[in-house]
Amino acid sequence: MLILGIESSCDETGVALVEFGGAAVPVLRSHALFSQVDMHQAYGGVVPELASRDHIRRVLPLTELVLRDAGCRLADVDVVAFTRGPGLAGALLVGAGVACALGAALERPVLGVHHLEGHLLSPFLSADPPEFPFVALLVSGGHTQLMRVDGVGRYAILGETIDDAAGEAFDKSAKLLGLGYPGGPALSRLAEQGDPAAFKLPRPLLHSGNLDFSFAGLKTAVLTQARKLGDQLEAPGSTAKADLAASTEAAIVEVLLKKSLAALKETGLRRLVVAGGVGANRELRRQLNLACAQQGVRVHYPELHLCTDNGAMIAMAAAMRLQAGVQQASRVYAFDVKPRWPLDALEVN
Ligand code: KG4
Ligand code: ZN
Repeated sequence: MLILGIESSCDETGVALVEFGGAAVPVLRSHALFSQVDMHQAYGGVVPELASRDHIRRVLPLTELVLRDAGCRLADVDVVAFTRGPGLAGALLVGAGVACALGAALERPVLGVHHLEGHLLSPFLSADPPEFPFVALLVSGGHTQLMRVDGVGRYAILGETIDDAAGEAFDKSAKLLGLGYPGGPALSRLAEQGDPAAFKLPRPLLHSGNLDFSFAGLKTAVLTQARKLGDQLEAPGSTAKADLAASTEAAIVEVLLKKSLAALKETGLRRLVVAGGVGANRELRRQLNLACAQQGVRVHYPELHLCTDNGAMIAMAAAMRLQAGVQQASRVYAFDVKPRWPLDALEVN
């Protein structure tokens, strides 16, 4: 079975081909990505209308590219998968519309995928795929969740953020420090030159006794500290900005680490999967690797370039749903999208 996957939920257009047969882990044949980051940078964040229009421009050329790379023709595609939600409504409609039009034209069924399920299953695209069951730490720009994953479509939320997501905390703090958009990678790069213990920043809900997160207070603390430092932040030779970046990263990483370890303890599971854009963070990976090695826990990540949004994870999630028999592809081409869609509300049919 050859699955064409299309991702267009936010500011990246991703297209990929994944193939599976029998019970073996599906294989990525080719993928292509166009990031709109340069376009949105001028506005300091994603402009939904511009995002939708750009997806329209990119999606078919990217589809041609992945087919060429894999040496396939459109007629070889068995199922067309697309991101159905959550995400920006207009952006999602582009991928859904193109996928359903392709399906109708090719007389092939289509399948709408949950974006977070794509992230969650993306480590299965790596050379060292996990095995069920596991605890998943899903950390993206819009979501921060700890989950117990017993199989494809079998997700129980153990805890989640009550306000900002971890990626949002990185992005908003980076913006306050004048590091542009998206700020996560920039803040993390600057943090490498700073002292993570330089400033005392809050670790919200660290001792809450549950597995929920809260990051909204952190950006206020960063703002207060940045105001206190004033001109010192930009002064030549000053390490203040790098120190504040490192302290911010340390606060976010410590909360993610401790809550992940608590989730492993609570469930008794010995395997952790980290997915979503923040999963690319080097300091988070370093500390998780260290702590998990000490406790005999296996930890899995997606390949670095598949941590942020991409089409491969969407094709993969569709392939794994079909393979596990939890969903059938459909020949109904009237599509809808779900801009808001909790992962634990995923229907299994
Ligand atoms: O998963 P993703 O591509 O999009 C969503 O589904 O939200 O995640 C994007 C988020 C952004 O907030 C970005 O700043 C963050 O992931 N991110 C990072 C790093 N790379 C991406 N945050 C910290 N360190 C990184 N290296
Ligand atoms: Zn995402």
